[in-house]
Amino acid sequence: MSGFSADWLRLREPVDLAARNEQVEDAFLSALPKGPVRLMDLASGAGSTVAALSGRLKTHQDWILTDNDPALLEVSRRRFSQFGQGTVAYRQVDLSGDLATLPFASVDGVTTSAFLDLVTRPFLEQLVSLVTAARLPFLASLTYDGRASCMSVDPFDEDIRQAMNAHQKTDKGFGAALGPDAAVAAEALFEAAGYRVVSGHSDWHADRDAQAFQRKLISGWVSAGSDMGLDPERLSHWLEMRTEQIAKGALAIEVGHRDMAAIPL
Ligand SMILES: C[S@@+](CC[C@H](N)C(=O)[O-])C[C@H]1O[C@@H](n2cnc3c(N)ncnc32)[C@H](O)[C@@H]1O
Repeated sequence: MSGFSADWLRLREPVDLAARNEQVEDAFLSALPKGPVRLMDLASGAGSTVAALSGRLKTHQDWILTDNDPALLEVSRRRFSQFGQGTVAYRQVDLSGDLATLPFASVDGVTTSAFLDLVTRPFLEQLVSLVTAARLPFLASLTYDGRASCMSVDPFDEDIRQAMNAHQKTDKGFGAALGPDAAVAAEALFEAAGYRVVSGHSDWHADRDAQAFQRKLISGWVSAGSDMGLDPERLSHWLEMRTEQIAKGALAIEVGHRDMAAIPL
């Protein structure tokens, strides 16, 4: 178990798909070879990257999905059992230790989504070095960038956002995580390696149609706020107020993300 439940990934997928930055994806897709492609997705969860890109790749495609959570790999396996555009292979791997064992030399591109904010700078450096040594295009979608807001605004929102951002920098299985600094760090590392970087926002816009998602999201924020020592009474009052607003369809939530394509020159 990774702590990312299949239920949460299912709730966030439509919001993720709507948020993805099409220009950034275009830059990645156009850097792939013409004809059949082999792609490796890191920390694939329930396969959201395949869901996002398979329809846009108008060619035969062989995917390798990697994750350390067997339950999520099993969800992907069931989901893509009828995959018509090529093949999908699954590899259970702990990326914190075994990144270098993956077949970077035998794929045409590497993707990941909602993952870079969990890792450390040394991990990112190793990843960039493996990708650039193989001269591969790389796509990192939906890296959290530290922005989060609710409409309407409440004075306690900012305390929660700051606590959540501090929580994002705690250990997520790799060591002290980059959290909201990850996207900028990844862009700088690829540029320093001589790659061209195309990046842009991919913000979540969760409105009244996404009530179950909103409920889960704010309960995660409250739990992070509690871990970081925010006042329990204020947290509980805030949660109650936001839960009522969600039930009335009166809350909109925006969360900032960045997408990045890194292209060998
Ligand atoms: C926020 S989820 C994103 C999943 C998927 N990429 C998506 O966009 O829906 C983070 C993923 O990282 C995986 N993960 C976390 N730590 C990992 C590790 N050490 N090795 C492999 N996968 C890991 C989790 O199992 C989870 O699937």
